[in-house]
Amino acid sequence: MQNFEYCTPTRLIFGKGVVERLPDVMKPLGKKVLLAYGSGSIKKLGLYDKVKNLMKDFEIIELANIQPNPKYDPSVLEGVRLCKEHQVEVILAVGGGSVLDCTKAIAAGAKYDGDPWDLISYKVKAQAALPIVDILTLSATGSEFDSGGVISRTETNDKIGYLDPLLYPVCSILDPTYTFSVSKKQTAAGCADAMNHVMEQYFVEDSTLLNDGFCEAELKSLMVNTRACLENPEDYRARAEMMLCCTYGCNRILSLGNSPSGWPCHGIEHALSAYYDITHGEGLAIITPRWMKHILNERTVDRFVKYGVNVFGIDSTLGKFEIAERAIDETYRFFESIGIPMHLREVGIDDSRIDEMAHHIAINEGLEQAYAPLTEKDIKEILLASL
Ligand code: NZQ
Ligand code: ZN
Repeated sequence: MQNFEYCTPTRLIFGKGVVERLPDVMKPLGKKVLLAYGSGSIKKLGLYDKVKNLMKDFEIIELANIQPNPKYDPSVLEGVRLCKEHQVEVILAVGGGSVLDCTKAIAAGAKYDGDPWDLISYKVKAQAALPIVDILTLSATGSEFDSGGVISRTETNDKIGYLDPLLYPVCSILDPTYTFSVSKKQTAAGCADAMNHVMEQYFVEDSTLLNDGFCEAELKSLMVNTRACLENPEDYRARAEMMLCCTYGCNRILSLGNSPSGWPCHGIEHALSAYYDITHGEGLAIITPRWMKHILNERTVDRFVKYGVNVFGIDSTLGKFEIAERAIDETYRFFESIGIPMHLREVGIDDSRIDEMAHHIAINEGLEQAYAPLTEKDIKEILLASL
């Protein structure tokens, strides 16, 4: 087991009706609040009115219209400007991962005198950040329990995962009923994202029985509960378990002491959504089985055997490579069965920029250090196989 240091300071308040706790959570953090949200789903849900009502004793400044794959320009820049102009003391993010991620970059940018891109691009280390509280409305990214935000800069096709311990939310308010309205498309994409977070931690050289067990249970729970959510979007039990699975997915708790993985599917997908603005979870579902096929060899096969037997219940007496190939097929078929388009062409990506993307990924994502190292040629082959 590898040495590690771990601390997630985020308080989770989970369950039906917990949004009522909002004023008590916010009071110690300040009176001037930046309320950040997306394109209107929280208004349809009635959550916007609910929050405004609960927050009537606070001074609210609003940042609306944060887009999926949140953009540096205008959202981060506009949020930083508002925070500075109004001396905002605390940020309240209400929405999915894109809203939460955007507020993480804003929180650091608001306390920095220069161009916030210096922080996101790791040119400068942030010295402080505004506190963030969030009310999550979509189960997927785990941003509610991690220290990262992923920000896109359109003009350079960059999509950067910006991580800093200063960016953990102070408190995440998680009421699964606010996810009842999430569309089938986003429910499936959220599942694929969370499953991939787990797989990125599972496919490593050195792991433990404990971590493997956590990951396998997560994957099984995500599959069962996503099917249940798709069948009945108001199934509280299923939405709740899915929410908790996603919350655990991305903050390293599933892989403490493991050797590093390099998060290869995320490295590849971030370029797809940077170049084509596709839905992150769909991009991951498309890439994952192709990546698996590409890295399957004598060195990696035992991991696939464990995955196939423990997650999909494949007969352990079969040959190693047969189990591994069946496991990859099961992975593909599960994503397909929950309605995810499984080819890049179906999400609007053709072969015209594959070379450019493979080069961009190879230069920026460091995947030659991944569990199964990927060169530019490997990345290109995975992209071509995903078309
Ligand atoms: O904009 P609104 O109106 O809110 O609509 C959103 C958006 O259109 C909608 N939605 C959210 N909650 C809803 C709802 N619709 C109906 N009912 C609700 N309750 O869903 C759409 C997608 O929302 P978005 O926030 O973009 O989805 P998600 O949570 O999947 O976030 C994706 C972003 O997170 C990044 C991704 O790259 C992508 O940019 N990631 C963040 C990570 C992190 N912070 O740790 C890790 C991930 O690997 C990922 O990279
Ligand atoms: Zn992800």
